[in-house]
Amino acid sequence: MSQRIPVGIVGCGPAGLFLAHLLHRAGIESVILENRSREAVEGTIRAGVLEHWVTELMREMGLGERMAREGHFHTGITLQYGPNRFHLDMEELTGGKRVTVYPQHEVLIDLIGARLADGGTIHFGVSETAFHDVDTDTPRITFRHADGTPDELRCDYVVGADGFHGPGRQAIPAADRREYSKTYPFGWLGILARAPTSWHELIYARHEDGFALLSTRSPEIQRLYIQCDPRDDIANWPDERIWAALHRRLETAGDWRLAEGAIFQKGIIPLRSFVCETMRHGRLFLAGDAAHIVPPTGAKGLNLAVADVLVLSRALEEAIRRNRTDGLDSYAATALRRIWKAERFSWMMTTMLHRDDTETAFEHRIRMADLDFLAGSRNAQAALAENYVGLPFEA
Ligand code: PHB
Repeated sequence: MSQRIPVGIVGCGPAGLFLAHLLHRAGIESVILENRSREAVEGTIRAGVLEHWVTELMREMGLGERMAREGHFHTGITLQYGPNRFHLDMEELTGGKRVTVYPQHEVLIDLIGARLADGGTIHFGVSETAFHDVDTDTPRITFRHADGTPDELRCDYVVGADGFHGPGRQAIPAADRREYSKTYPFGWLGILARAPTSWHELIYARHEDGFALLSTRSPEIQRLYIQCDPRDDIANWPDERIWAALHRRLETAGDWRLAEGAIFQKGIIPLRSFVCETMRHGRLFLAGDAAHIVPPTGAKGLNLAVADVLVLSRALEEAIRRNRTDGLDSYAATALRRIWKAERFSWMMTTMLHRDDTETAFEHRIRMADLDFLAGSRNAQAALAENYVGLPFEA
């Protein structure tokens, strides 16, 4: 059963799928291994904001048709604190760039469908996935197919696009890894509700009770979040309590009212920042959440994963086609410059907009001054918008 392929990829999330598509476009074959079922991958609800260049890339690759039809193009965001509500016109502040609200699992559905239609291979439901010989010229990935049959991929290069808990990062010796992390003392309680649209763009709100975010999925389905204790049990949050918190935190400006509806999905996620500075070991490369995590406040997770593999795909193409490895040698350094800027932005948005009981009264006042400055300064707004729509790529 064992086969030899140029690139073996573990993980069928945004990083693994975009990489497989970019390599295919360059005429390089790859195989994706995924431990979850296709249904689980396509059904897991995640954040939904695509940076301007990601939507352009999808369009250019012929993957943007449904997104163009069903995605919501937002020209700005609304920010609130206390009784103040202000609009950031991102399109105007960035010279014409927008973001698209199109949920991650919809992107995955489109990319999986297109990959299989192109004749690509994705093995779902695999187990016991392990990297071997990554510091030799013949790295391997062993695994069991969904039916239990053992198998092996012999590769020229292997990629861990397998998320924070996958085997990719662990295949790098601990002594060679430099890891940086920050755990926030709060989490997000997220809901999906069958409710009409309450506002034409996203609302990020700082309230004395804690953060709240209003987002959307479609004209009939809304996505909303409230800050909560990350260790809290979702059982403590009956629907009425969630709506009461949302009304209180979001309805602070004028007579605007939030429309309610039936909640059909709810859950609590912790917030964390994490960077593994070593993104390569021999012929193993890490991409996406395997190497870095951002809190969702900046909506950067998927975008950062795609940015990694855009750099990595070019480097792999040069190595495989032209035997030039300088792109692979500089991959981690190039990717990390963008990663740290997204980490900074996500941390800044998170600290500015959340209630943090571990902060001093002084720090609290500084956060309020951050928001006040932002509300009144076009330069501050332009800096936020530049990050939100996606920083340009540097050489
Ligand atoms: C979402 O729609 O799920 C969403 C939007 C913006 C964020 C995070 C999540 O910053």
